[in-house]
Amino acid sequence: MSHQPERDPVSGQITTGHEWNGIKELNSPVPKVVFAALVLGAIYLVISTILLPAWPGITGYTRGLLGVDQRDTVNREVEQARMARSQWTDLINGQPLEESLADSALMDIVRETGSTLFIDNCAACHGTEGTGGPGFPDIAEGRLAWGDDVETIHETIRVGINSSHPETRFAQMLAFGRDGMLPRADIVALTGHVLGLSDPQAQTDPAVAETFAFNCASCHGEDARGVTDFGAPDLTDPYWTFGGDRDAVFSSIFNGRAGHMPHWEDRLSETETRLLALYVHDMRTPVQ
Ligand code: HEC
Ligand code: HEC
Repeated sequence: MSHQPERDPVSGQITTGHEWNGIKELNSPVPKVVFAALVLGAIYLVISTILLPAWPGITGYTRGLLGVDQRDTVNREVEQARMARSQWTDLINGQPLEESLADSALMDIVRETGSTLFIDNCAACHGTEGTGGPGFPDIAEGRLAWGDDVETIHETIRVGINSSHPETRFAQMLAFGRDGMLPRADIVALTGHVLGLSDPQAQTDPAVAETFAFNCASCHGEDARGVTDFGAPDLTDPYWTFGGDRDAVFSSIFNGRAGHMPHWEDRLSETETRLLALYVHDMRTPVQ
C-alpha cells in the first residue's frame, strides 16, 4: 500500500503522517545549530577518548595519549607536603632545642603549628595565652618553678609534675600547720612575710625572717627567689599558682600544696612535645 506524503495546508510543510487527537506532526529538519552542536560534541568525545583516561576495562582503564592521571597528581602533592613537613620535623627532632629557637623560619612554623597543639592540650588548664588561673600556674610570665630554659620546659611536658609517669617531677609544699611543724601564730606571721616579699614598701621583721630562713629557705632559697631543683617557686614575684591573697598564702603554708601537671609522653609524639616546648618558650615574656 503506497502512502502519499501529506502537506500541511498552513505551513506548506510535509507531515510525518502521525496524528494525535487531530494534531499532525510536521516533518521539519533538525535545526542547524543543534546539529552542529551534536557533531562537535561527538568529535570532542572521540578526541578526548584518545587523549585522556576514558574507558574502564577488566584490569584497568584506557589511559589516553596525554598520560594525565589525577591519582599521580594527588600522590605528588601529598609527597611534596610530606617532604616539606619532614624537613622541619627533622630539624625539631634532630638539633638541640636551643638551636631551633634561633631559627626564625622554623619558629614561624612552630608558632603556627604549636598554637593548635597548645589550645587542644594545654589551654584547658593554662589558658589560651598560657597565663594560667587558680591552681594552674602562669607559664607565660615570671620565672618558672622548674627553670625557664627550653630543655627544662620540654622535660616538664614529657614527664609532668606529681604525675603517674615513672620519671615524674615531684613538687611538695609541706603542710606546716596541718602536720604540726609550726604553730599557727608563726604561719600567720610568715603569711605576712611572704606577702611582703613582693612588696618593696614592706618592712621585714627580723624574727620572722629567721623563721623563714630556718624553715623555708632550704627549698625556696635564702633570697626566696625559688630553687628549680625542688620546683619551689619564686615567692618574691607577683605570680602565684595558688593565689596571692592572704587566705590563699596562709592556706599554702598551713595545708601544703601539690599541683598536678599531667605527663604527655604517652599522649603526644616526641615531635609534638619538642614543638610545644619551643612554643611555650617563645610565648613567654622574657624575665629580667
Ligand atoms: C590538667 C591541667 C593541666 C594541663 C592540661 C596542662 N598542665 Fe601544665 N601544669 C599544670 C599544673 C597544675 C602545673 C603546676 C604543677 C605544680 O604546681 O606543681 C603545671 C605546670 C606546667 C609547667 C611548669 C611550670 C613551672 O613553673 O615550672 C609547664 C612548662 C607546663 N605546665 C606546660 C604545659 C603544657 C605545654 C601543657 C600542654 C601539653 C600543659 N602544661 C597541660 C596543669 C596542667
Ligand atoms: C620541701 C621543700 C619546701 C619547703 C621546706 C617549703 N616549701 Fe613552699 N613550696 C614548695 C614547693 C615545691 C611549692 C610548689 C608546690 C606546687 O606547685 O605543687 C611550694 C609552694 C609554696 C607557696 C605557694 C606559691 C604559689 O605560687 O602559690 C607558698 C606561699 C610557699 N610555698 C611558702 C613557703 C613557706 C612560707 C615555707 C616555710 C614555712 C615553705 N614554703 C617551705 C616547696 C617547699
